[in-house]
Amino acid sequence: MELRTLIAKAEETHQLEKDEIVALLQSDEYNKEIFAAADRVRHRYVGDEVHLRGLIEFSNICKQNCLYCGLRKDNKNLDRYRLEPEVVIDFARKAREYGYRTVVLQSGEDACYTAAQMADIIRKIKQLDIAVTLSVGEKTKEEYKVYKEAGADRYLLRIETTDKALYEAMDPGMSFENRMRCLADLKELGFEVGSGCLVGLPGQTLQSLADDILFFKTIDADMIGVGPFIPNPDTPLKDAGGGAFELSLKVMAMIRLLLPDINIPATTAMESLHPEGRVIALRSGANVVMPNVTEGDYRRMYALYPGKICINDTPAHCRTCITGKINGIGRRVSQDYGFRQKGS
Ligand code: SAM
Ligand code: SF4
Ligand code: FES
Repeated sequence: MELRTLIAKAEETHQLEKDEIVALLQSDEYNKEIFAAADRVRHRYVGDEVHLRGLIEFSNICKQNCLYCGLRKDNKNLDRYRLEPEVVIDFARKAREYGYRTVVLQSGEDACYTAAQMADIIRKIKQLDIAVTLSVGEKTKEEYKVYKEAGADRYLLRIETTDKALYEAMDPGMSFENRMRCLADLKELGFEVGSGCLVGLPGQTLQSLADDILFFKTIDADMIGVGPFIPNPDTPLKDAGGGAFELSLKVMAMIRLLLPDINIPATTAMESLHPEGRVIALRSGANVVMPNVTEGDYRRMYALYPGKICINDTPAHCRTCITGKINGIGRRVSQDYGFRQKGS
């Protein structure tokens, strides 16, 4: 089928075969058309409002060793921190005052916070009338259950790549089956489940990215974040090529075409590669932004990759900045919690 016809098919039916996705990823001839189609689908299914999620990076301590990530256990070139529960709750309170209706609590896999401690933090934040998203990695089903019962609404766990061999090479000591088990448990427990992938991992193919896109459809993900892989000089992948902005944007746009009603963030990594990355993403299918609400030096210390935006900015500045960008493209900041409106 001609590529233009494939884009029309994706826009109308939200279905494509794997070889059709690969064909669209392979050619750059119709990128503009793909982005425009994804923007129309975004408008039709999730509207013009942009949901903001305030990101609290509460610990950069991690027991895992993902080759791509600056927080990996073996990176000795990083000052580590762990915020006290009162500080996390205080950041959430301030986020509420800045008008956020959701906070995302993100960290390395820091075994120091017990499920009971996390539950306590979640309960206190929920009292602020704010939705809680967690992004704290692989846990047991029992732990996820404790978080859910404490009131957590959503959970973000990227599959990173659906290529099992690549996943296990990139994440030594972690198993692909356990990652899948976590996603299934989270869904079963009633979380809104977010996942996503890195684009540009060494050895990753377009076929594998097409598999990722189809996988997100299979698991009925509620939110999908796509980020270019950005090589970090303090990791074993320091000399890798890294992901391209345009390809990440295209994978994101294809996800909007095939999963029309989900939430899709314009990711921080995209803006770290391109000064207008988030605005471009918002015009190519995205409807969510996750501004940082962590205060002070912790932003710099949460060093996943070089060039991370906003490391010297305050939560107040980022809130004003992002509102300006959103309004500047004729969109509005949503005032609600931003749950997925299925099939809308
Ligand atoms: N530890 C939790 C986990 O891995 O799910 C949550 C925090 S982890 C830092 C959040 C995300 O950062 C990962 O899912 C990964 O996709 C992304 N990330 C890590 N290193 C990166 C890099 N070098 N470039 C782009 N994204 C990266
Ligand atoms: Fe740890 Fe997550 Fe980074 Fe892997 S991606 S090293 S689990 S913080
Ligand atoms: Fe942080 Fe623009 S969002 S400075």
